This record gives sequence, structure tokens and C-alpha cells, in this order.
Amino acid sequence: MNLDVANTIRVSCAPALAEYLAKEIEALGYSATGQYDTGVDLTGTLGDAMRLNLYLRTAMNVLYFLREFPCSTVEDLYREVGFIDWEHWLDPDGYLSVVSRVDTPSVNNETFANKKVKDAIVDRIQDKAGRRPNSGPGRDRFVVNLFWFKDRCWLYFNTSGAKLSNRGYRKIPHSAPMVETLAAGVLMAAGYDGRMPLVNPMCGSGTLAIEAALMATGRPPGLLRSNYGFMHALGFDDQAWQVIRREARKVRAESPPGRIIASDIDPQAVDAARRNAATAGVDQLIEFHVCDFADTPLPEETGMVMLNPEYGERLGKMSELEVTYKRIGDFFKQRCPGWTGYVFTGNMELAKKVGLRASRRIPFFNARIECRLLKYELYPGTRRRVVETPSH
Ligand SMILES: C[S@@+](CC[C@H](N)C(=O)[O-])C[C@H]1O[C@@H](n2cnc3c(N)ncnc32)[C@H](O)[C@@H]1O
Repeated sequence: MNLDVANTIRVSCAPALAEYLAKEIEALGYSATGQYDTGVDLTGTLGDAMRLNLYLRTAMNVLYFLREFPCSTVEDLYREVGFIDWEHWLDPDGYLSVVSRVDTPSVNNETFANKKVKDAIVDRIQDKAGRRPNSGPGRDRFVVNLFWFKDRCWLYFNTSGAKLSNRGYRKIPHSAPMVETLAAGVLMAAGYDGRMPLVNPMCGSGTLAIEAALMATGRPPGLLRSNYGFMHALGFDDQAWQVIRREARKVRAESPPGRIIASDIDPQAVDAARRNAATAGVDQLIEFHVCDFADTPLPEETGMVMLNPEYGERLGKMSELEVTYKRIGDFFKQRCPGWTGYVFTGNMELAKKVGLRASRRIPFFNARIECRLLKYELYPGTRRRVVETPSH
């Protein structure tokens, strides 16, 4: 594995996160050369790929380009994949997984495409080394990604291995947790700067609060993980990796983090959130409370209050949720004047029950569910008017 060969790197992400991912990539000093629905391209070396794996908050996988070729049949696929010098990439005693995205009349089955790529790789290594690597679905070691669109294929070495959304801190999931990379994107979309107070009632397993704490301290989220795909490539340079990690450990935000308050009505959720925050090393930065969302303590200094209520797809009954959403509107009006309110939901009918006009509706996807981050400007005058009206 040569760390210094510059090539195309495709950083993949969930739909609707590419805008935030591109900003992150630029902020790290790279130039995005392309932006797509679910990814951003740049030029970089494998050393850069290691760095990107450590620092990016909204990325799913960091893919290092290997080869592009015309391909109309599975025979073409097998032959073309076999042209790559896999014996220089993968140990014959290693373990290989293949992940495919296929949109071609030539095959209707990603599993079949995976198998053909896997056969081509292990057959070539068998020819050259006399032994063949094991293979299977576990994406925790050497991973190859295939994109097959119409009559063209692209092959990438997946330097992340397991998805980067799997940061490693969520040991206790609780119910309907938000994906870590989505939570980071939601905070970026809201303009969270790490200095303003952030209040997160209905925190569940704590993903939003933990991602906020990681952002507020400037800590690269990848430091929490000890296993990456690039570690399983032949010639992996552990010394170079340790240098990149040491640099990342020194990164600190320029100013101290603002207050982060997280609450949930369910004591088990708060316990899970607290333990997950401890695993992420940010528990001392988050103030936890067990209470109804409307009783969450708010600091004097205003900031953002962000809720991710259930929205009926996976949890909760509609009529109960209607009451909850209406109560969120009351909470915003009565307790949060001067704050900026956010509701992340996948159900726009329920969102209407908040009863306030959203100033922005930012689209996201939670798995395949289309969601919105709704922004509410809660002007300071609102409460005063409500309180003063009876005396006139
Ligand atoms: C969709 S989950 C939040 C998931 C969270 N974003 C995460 O990443 O784990 C909604 C949470 O709202 C909490 N909840 C429901 N009703 C509540 C209420 N009245 N007050 C406070 N929390 C409530 C539930 O216990 C649940 O943990």
C-alpha cells in the first residue's frame, strides 16, 4: 500500500448530507472536485484517506479509486476485476468483503455481482500466491466497493471498512436512535457553533448531545474507533497512522464549549445517553436530567433547543403524538422566547400540530424516511405579550 499516490477519493454519505460533507472536506483543506446526491469527490492519497476517516463527521465511507472499465456481462466483470494487482493489496491469509451497488440490465442481483468480484480477486491471489483469502459479508476488514451503472463499472478500495456512522460510542442504543452522521449533519444545518447553549429534550440515547459535544470540543469523531478498512491492506503503515492519530488528538476547539443540556422522560434513556457519552469521553460536558421535555431546565443565556420526537413510523401512537407535538409548540411559546427552536421529524402532519410557523424546513433522510429539520424563530417578545395581555 503506497501512501503517496494521489488518486480520486469518493467520500460517500447518506442522501441530503453531501452539502455538509463538502463543507467539511473544504474546511480540512481539500478541494471537492465533484458533489453528488450521496457523495463528494476529491483528489488525495491513501494518507489523506486515513485523515478523512478520522475527521469527517457526516461521511459514510472513504473510497479510494482503483479502476473504471466498460462492462456488459458478468464475464466482463470477472475478467476486468482480475486485471488489478490484488496480490499487492490483500494478504492471502486475509479476509475480503465486497459491497456492490448495481443498476444494469446485465444482473438483477447485487449478491451475484459481489460473488463475481470476490471470485476474481481470490482467484488472482491464488494464482500468484498459492493461497486464497477468506471472504464473507463482515465489513470489518478488507472491503472492496463496486458500482455498476448500465455498461460501466467503478471499483474502489473502501478505506473505512465498517460505515463511519458506527463511531463506536453507542453501546446502549435505546429506542429509535438517530444515526450519528445524520445527527452531525442536523447540527451543522442548524448552524451549531459549539459555543451557544444547546438544549436537547427527548434526547433518547443522546446522539445529538454527544455529536454536539464532539463538535464543541473540536474532537475528530474517528478517534473513538480502533478499526478501519485500510489497516487490513498489505503494507499498511502503522507508523504513519500513529502520526496522523497523534495530530488528531491535539486538535482542540478555539474556545471552550457552550453548555449542553440533555433530558428525557425515560430514566433508561438518560442512563443510556449518559453511558454512551462516557464512552465517547464527553459525559462531563453534558448536563443530564430525567424529566418531561417541557420541564427541561434552560440556561439564562439563550441558544438552540432541539427536539427529535417520535413520529409514528417506528414508535408512538398518532393521537398521543398529536398531543405531544402541540405541547412542543406550547413549550416553545411559553418557555423559549429568545431561543431558536428546532424539531426533527419525519411526519409533516404531526409537525403542523406544533402550531408555529417554521422559518426553514431543511430536508434530510433517516434511512429511507424523508424527514425535515424545522426551524422556529422564537422571538423574545412572544412571552412578554402573553404575560402582559391580562393587565390591559
Ligand atoms: C425518537 S426518540 C429520540 C432519539 C434520539 N434522537 C437518539 O438519537 O437516541 C424520542 C425520545 O423522546 C422521549 N420522550 C417521549 N415523550 C417524552 C416527553 N413527554 N418528555 C420527554 N421525553 C419524551 C422518548 O423517551 C424517546 O427517548
